[in-house]
Amino acid sequence: MEKPRSVSPVALNAVLFDAYGTLFDVYSVGLLAEQLFPGQGQTLGVVWRDKQIEYAGLVTTSNHGAHYQPFWDLTRAALLYAIKKIVPGADACWTSGGFDTKVGQLMNQYRHLSAFPENREVLQALKSRGVVTGILSNGDPGMLAVAVKSAGLDGLLDHVISVDAIRKYKTHPDAYALGLQATGLAARNIAFVSCNSWDALAATWFGYQTLWVNRYQLPFEELGTQPLHTGSSLRDVLTLPGLKDAAPA
Ligand code: LAC
Repeated sequence: MEKPRSVSPVALNAVLFDAYGTLFDVYSVGLLAEQLFPGQGQTLGVVWRDKQIEYAGLVTTSNHGAHYQPFWDLTRAALLYAIKKIVPGADACWTSGGFDTKVGQLMNQYRHLSAFPENREVLQALKSRGVVTGILSNGDPGMLAVAVKSAGLDGLLDHVISVDAIRKYKTHPDAYALGLQATGLAARNIAFVSCNSWDALAATWFGYQTLWVNRYQLPFEELGTQPLHTGSSLRDVLTLPGLKDAAPA
C-alpha cells in the first residue's frame, strides 16, 4: 500500500464499503455473458457496468430527481442497452422470448454476484478489533440483502446503507452523508473503501478517509484529487493508520 499523506493518523472508528465492484464482483457475470454472447461477454459486462453508473448519475442530476428508479431497475435498463448495443436489433430479431430469457438469466446472475474471496476475513478482523463495519451503496435494499446473504456476510456488517432511502445516488453528497447519520461519526473518523475510482474520488471530496482498492491496475481519475490511501486488495484496509490495533491473542 502507498504511504499515507498524513503523518499523524486520525482515529478510524468505522469502515464503510462500497458494494458493487468492491465487495461483490460485478464482472463475475462474464462467464454467463460469454456463454450467451460468445466472444462478446467481457465487452457486454463492461458496457453494462458503465451504463449502469451513467444512468445513476443521470437520474440523480436531472430534473431534481424526478426520474429516480431503484438500482435494480437501472441495472436492468443498463443491461437492455448493453445487449442492444452489442447485438443491434437483438430485441426485434430474436425468436420468441429469446431476448427476455437472456435478460432474465443475466439479471439472476447479477442478483447472486460472486463476492471477492478476502471479504469475510477482512470483515471478521475488523469486527474483532471493535471497528464498526458497513456497506454504503447505490444498491437498493432488496438486492443488497440478497448479495450480503449469498456472500455469507450477514452478521459481519453493522450497517447496510442504501441510498434508496433518499433517492439520490452516489456521487451526490447526501448519499455519502448517510454514512455519518448511520454511524453517528464524523467523516474524518470513517474509512470509506471503494474499488471504483469515481466513488473513491467523490468520497474523498466529501471528507471520508478513503482507501481506493485498485484491483485492476487502473489509473486514478484525473481531476486533481487523490484518494488518501491506495491498495490492491481489501486486506489493505487492515493496515490503515488510525485503526485500532488487533486485540492481543
Ligand atoms: C455501489 C456501486 C455503484 O454503490 O458500486 O455499490
